[in-house]
Amino acid sequence: MSVRHKLEGLLSLGTSFQASQVLFESVRLGLFDLLDAAPLSAASIARRLGLAPAALGRLLRVLLEMEILQKKTSCYRNTALSKKYLCTNSPWSIGDFFIHRQSLQQPWSELKASLKNNFMVRPNRNRLADYPRQLKKFTNAMDALGRLKSEHIRELLPIEDHHSMLDLGGGIGTYAISFCKRYPGLHGVVFDLSNVISFARRNILKAGLQKKVSVAAGECLADDLPPGPFDLVFISNLLHIYNETDCIRIVKKAAAVLAKGGILVVHDYVFGIGDSVSVSLFDMTMLIGTPQGRCYEHTDITRWLRTAGIKKIQSAEILAGTSILWGLK
Ligand SMILES: C[S@@+](CC[C@H](N)C(=O)[O-])C[C@H]1O[C@@H](n2cnc3c(N)ncnc32)[C@H](O)[C@@H]1O
Repeated sequence: MSVRHKLEGLLSLGTSFQASQVLFESVRLGLFDLLDAAPLSAASIARRLGLAPAALGRLLRVLLEMEILQKKTSCYRNTALSKKYLCTNSPWSIGDFFIHRQSLQQPWSELKASLKNNFMVRPNRNRLADYPRQLKKFTNAMDALGRLKSEHIRELLPIEDHHSMLDLGGGIGTYAISFCKRYPGLHGVVFDLSNVISFARRNILKAGLQKKVSVAAGECLADDLPPGPFDLVFISNLLHIYNETDCIRIVKKAAAVLAKGGILVVHDYVFGIGDSVSVSLFDMTMLIGTPQGRCYEHTDITRWLRTAGIKKIQSAEILAGTSILWGLK
């Protein structure tokens, strides 16, 4: 890569927050949903969203330049990309993921303090008081991204003849729902903290899978896991919250409830497999936002799996920095 090209890249890092903000605010305003109903002129959009027409015109121009919107005659409309990924009605919608990303701007603005103390900054009062709303936003964001990734992960795993699955730290059941929908013989249990489990219950009901996917509330380090034995134990985006000692315990407990010949899967941001810039940035997010969380090396997770009795370990990159490692008991 030429020096000039590298310089362009460096300079664009300085403005990428502006592009993010345009995207976040457009999602938050419901712009893409509005255009999903019908193409509209700038004046109509401004009227419906209660915005200043001149300022909105400038925002729309950025979205046109980024090829997120298109314009025909004088009307703005969604591109195939924004229709598929940014409209709430689409099954592939990742709008909630961007809303969550926007909420990370405040903790990221405290980076200097985390760098000094090697510790997250305690959330301020307003943020703590807003926790229930933040939790809903967070679980929706995880679900949005998970729905995109689950199909790819599902296709990589030889689970078509499996009967039981434990989705450990399963959030609102994104992966259990996806896998159990695809394989008629598979039943799942979503294990998570009690305040998340109430959202999971609603999500499972919404998917019409209440006969195939059940829930169990608990704390995976202190409490017993559902006894199983399960043909598949899936640990997605849980280990990065914890220190190494806790991760080893979680993997060991997961392997203990796995049937002989069953598959243990770790899905996470893993150094050495996923896109290294995305993984290292996610690692910083864990520094800023969790007491002890971090991203781990491929070799660390492989060692924990082996120690827990898991063999024939394989790995694959998934999307947006995450990867899976899986093996058999
Ligand atoms: C980052 S989210 C991942 C959700 C989902 N597995 C996914 O990949 O989309 C981590 C989940 O683990 C749950 N969790 C964190 N610590 C836990 C613990 N000690 N016991 C049970 N669940 C836990 C959280 O409540 C949250 O739902």
